[in-house]
Amino acid sequence: MPVPPGTRLGDGTDAAGKHERESGPDHGTAHGTADHSPPGEYTDMEVKIGTTRIVLQQGDLAQQRADALVNAANSSLEPGGGVCGALHAAAGPALAEACATHRATHGQCAVGDAVATVAGDLQAQHVIHAVGPVWHDGQRGENILLERVWQRTLARAREIEARTIAFPAISTGVYGFPAEPAALIALNAIVRDIQTHAGSFDEVRIVLFDEDSLRVWTTALEEVQRTMTG
Ligand code: APR
Repeated sequence: MPVPPGTRLGDGTDAAGKHERESGPDHGTAHGTADHSPPGEYTDMEVKIGTTRIVLQQGDLAQQRADALVNAANSSLEPGGGVCGALHAAAGPALAEACATHRATHGQCAVGDAVATVAGDLQAQHVIHAVGPVWHDGQRGENILLERVWQRTLARAREIEARTIAFPAISTGVYGFPAEPAALIALNAIVRDIQTHAGSFDEVRIVLFDEDSLRVWTTALEEVQRTMTG
């Protein structure tokens, strides 16, 4: 799912990252690794498309500040482990109560869809619960469902007028989606959304829990940039 050729990236750069590695007219701003900074305190890579920043950052999603934090949820919106567990633990009971209320009134959330609730004690106004696909063998529509969940989550964010959104790497933990294709699918969906709905968001941040994930996403974002700049 390539980004349309000839699209120019990085028409503006800003200095949000502390670890600038390279910068060029067509490649946005790329911020390198930060060996001396603790996780969550630095921007590892940032690319600007129009007025929207795509930021890759290592850290704990539950400690992030944004208008909306995205939960890697299950269809029942039940508290689970991984990101879900971390968000519920930091949010307090209000988040589980909101999920239970949503479940009681709307039923399950389909795979590939997303719903927004309050955020309890998290440093956000909303949590968007995104239900990614479980990886089986790659032959059961997993790619399309993963692309859809990113699209739907971004659409929900627009509906609730979130300007800054922080995501985890949906489906790549308990749900077993391989990291590299997941990152490419997600980043292509993000770029297309930003191009289609210019100005909707100030920042789309992906918060990666570990260094390996950060590396995978950095490589994927560089690849998406190359595709865009031809
Ligand atoms: N912050 C950021 N990323 C995290 C955190 C955290 N606190 N904890 C885990 N991760 C990373 C994982 O390393 C993985 O790369 O988030 C990614 C997604 O992993 P999961 O949370 O397991 O989400 P997913 O694979 O989509 O599975 C969803 O797991 O916890 C249950 O209720 C959840 O049933 C649902 C399923």
